[in-house]
Amino acid sequence: MKNHEQTGETPTFVTHLECAMTGARYEADRLHGLSEAGRPLVVRYDLDGLGKALTKDALAARPTGFWRYREFLPVRRAENVVSLGEVETPLIPLPARFAPNVLVKDEGRLPTGSFKARGLALAVSMAKELGLGHLAMPTNGNAGAAMAAYSARAGIRATVFCPADTPEVNVSEIELQGATVWRVDGLINDCGRIVGEGKEATGWFDLSTLKEPYRIEGKKTMGLELAEQLGWRVPDVIFYPTGGGTGLIGMWKAFAELEAIGWIGPKRPRMVAVQASGCAPIVRAFERGEEHAPLWQDAHTVAAGIRVPAAVGDFMILRAVRESGGFAIAVDDEAIIAERDRIAREDGLLLCPEGAATAAAYAAALADGRVDRADEAVLFNCATGLKYPMPPVARTLDHRPPIDWTRF
Ligand SMILES: Cc1ncc(COP(=O)(O)O)c(C=O)c1O
Repeated sequence: MKNHEQTGETPTFVTHLECAMTGARYEADRLHGLSEAGRPLVVRYDLDGLGKALTKDALAARPTGFWRYREFLPVRRAENVVSLGEVETPLIPLPARFAPNVLVKDEGRLPTGSFKARGLALAVSMAKELGLGHLAMPTNGNAGAAMAAYSARAGIRATVFCPADTPEVNVSEIELQGATVWRVDGLINDCGRIVGEGKEATGWFDLSTLKEPYRIEGKKTMGLELAEQLGWRVPDVIFYPTGGGTGLIGMWKAFAELEAIGWIGPKRPRMVAVQASGCAPIVRAFERGEEHAPLWQDAHTVAAGIRVPAAVGDFMILRAVRESGGFAIAVDDEAIIAERDRIAREDGLLLCPEGAATAAAYAAALADGRVDRADEAVLFNCATGLKYPMPPVARTLDHRPPIDWTRF
């Protein structure tokens, strides 16, 4: 069967872009970074037209993978779609560790082993459509790997900056997939500053999360896919490991668009932003009732992907969490690693530390009554656990007889 991305025009219903803070309108099909107010831009669609053009049955007949949602996405011409085989990610129950209605959405199955593939497939496709020749971004690892792979596929030059202690496998996979990667003696916000400051001198385009409008559209497909997998309904609660928060914001947008076309009702999942106690700016702002989350000093956690001391979309994360009736919660590194190890041993699922953080947060919220055992909960495992350091194994065996069978 031919993939639809090989079959001519991609109908799109984009009408314009909008500043997430002021609502100011911006023209579609132009190159945009942040709004004039220095805030993220979001893509708006003719949802009436979209609802008339697409039926659930027509969608059900398409191949799986997120390009099946093309009417909800901004790419206008099919030849600009950059695809590496974006599979539908499974929902896997955790019966040994938790109740059967706790499901892990395992994003580690996507190209480059993380959910960053969703955002970067879209952002790089749009970069191709808009004729960009050089992309740059700061990364904690997974986003840089996804940008490298999709840029290689599109024939676009890519430059990546990561904190010096980024997991080794991420640094290598970025370089191996055609990008140039620089280790920086700082955190992701320091890397982000370099990308921003270098724009004029280098001519690269800044693909930092939420500093361009399209990564969020890719992450939105997590919400579309989840609702479709559940039979066009939403779960009671979603636990999301929150760094820049693009996925949480994207899913929130997906649910609003689905309701606008009548595919789901007004029910929303409670959105839970999970952070590490060594880097929890969103949790602190949530608890203080603030609209923005100031920079977190001395950020540290084993969950590299959520070591984001300041997020440009902080107010969007906090709005979504509050409107949903959800909350923000921090878990410490010991709880994250204990949960990763236990789920691997008992449920056969090797989560990344960020995914394990959502399981630790779920356990804590269950214990303090913020979620109920009967709630249907979805935990996001955003990357394969194989990319992260694992405990060494020292056990050895000499193959020459006699073998001591009492050892087994
Ligand atoms: C594995 C993993 N989980 C979670 C996150 C945080 O994602 P977001 O920026 O959407 O909050 C990242 C980001 O790097 C990540 O790599």
